[in-house]
Amino acid sequence: MNPKTILVTGANKGIGFEVVRQLAALGNQVIATARDPLKGEAAVANLKAEGLDVSLLQLDVSIEASIQQAVQKFQNTYHKLDVLINNAAVLLREDQSIVTGTAEVFHKTMRTNVFGPLQMVRHFRPFIPPGGRIINTSSGGGSMTDPVGGWSPAYCISKSALNALTRHLAYELATQKISVNAYCPGWVRTEMGGRSAPRTVAQGADTAVWLATSANLPTGRFFRDRKEIPW
Ligand SMILES: NC(=O)c1ccc[n+]([C@@H]2O[C@H](COP(=O)([O-])OP(=O)(O)OC[C@H]3O[C@@H](n4cnc5c(N)ncnc54)[C@H](OP(=O)(O)O)[C@@H]3O)[C@@H](O)[C@H]2O)c1
Repeated sequence: MNPKTILVTGANKGIGFEVVRQLAALGNQVIATARDPLKGEAAVANLKAEGLDVSLLQLDVSIEASIQQAVQKFQNTYHKLDVLINNAAVLLREDQSIVTGTAEVFHKTMRTNVFGPLQMVRHFRPFIPPGGRIINTSSGGGSMTDPVGGWSPAYCISKSALNALTRHLAYELATQKISVNAYCPGWVRTEMGGRSAPRTVAQGADTAVWLATSANLPTGRFFRDRKEIPW
């Protein structure tokens, strides 16, 4: 296998941590990022204890200066980024109603889940070579095909917007031969997914790992369980 340089946001726990673990175990050069450096160090220490060589960058996707600092540090060590995996997201407890909830809940959700991935692309794109990949972690909650479930509306809208962002980025970056796809990990047992979720983090991470490593990939599509699904 040709090892790739891969960066994953929100990688100190949950699906992002597992994506890093699986990609590093396959021999890739993986950069785990975390907004809290202590949580990031603890996560990377756990991976090192498993014999995996993973590096760490502090990065809060909702703060542009933090992304810029991460880019500076990144380019001191690396000259290209083969795969960017936008995984970090929030689902806020207060996200119960877009009619009566505070505007800040909506803003914070959109800033982290939609503008964050866009800013990551804008700042890291100069390092992504032709053949490079951008993978956006979306959710069935953002589906424009399934009925509205009524849960966490700002979060679901943010994932619909992330899907739209995926399609437009795919269009704009096609000339540079950079693919942009979204995937839904399914309902996964993490802090966000809760204890009742049926899937393990390994199952949740599988499609991201497949999108990062499979030989041929289309662009501008939405996947779950390695299969294309409707938007
Ligand atoms: N779990 C599910 O059932 C499910 C279903 C569909 C889609 N997803 C998607 O899968 C992805 C991972 O979810 P998860 O279940 O693993 O969630 P999680 O356990 O809550 O982990 C979320 C990660 O994102 C990080 N994060 C949040 N805001 C950030 C910011 N501003 N900058 C950088 N990192 C930030 C968190 O850092 P802290 O530890 O510092 O908070 C954490 O590392 C998300 O995009 C989520 O929407 C999850």
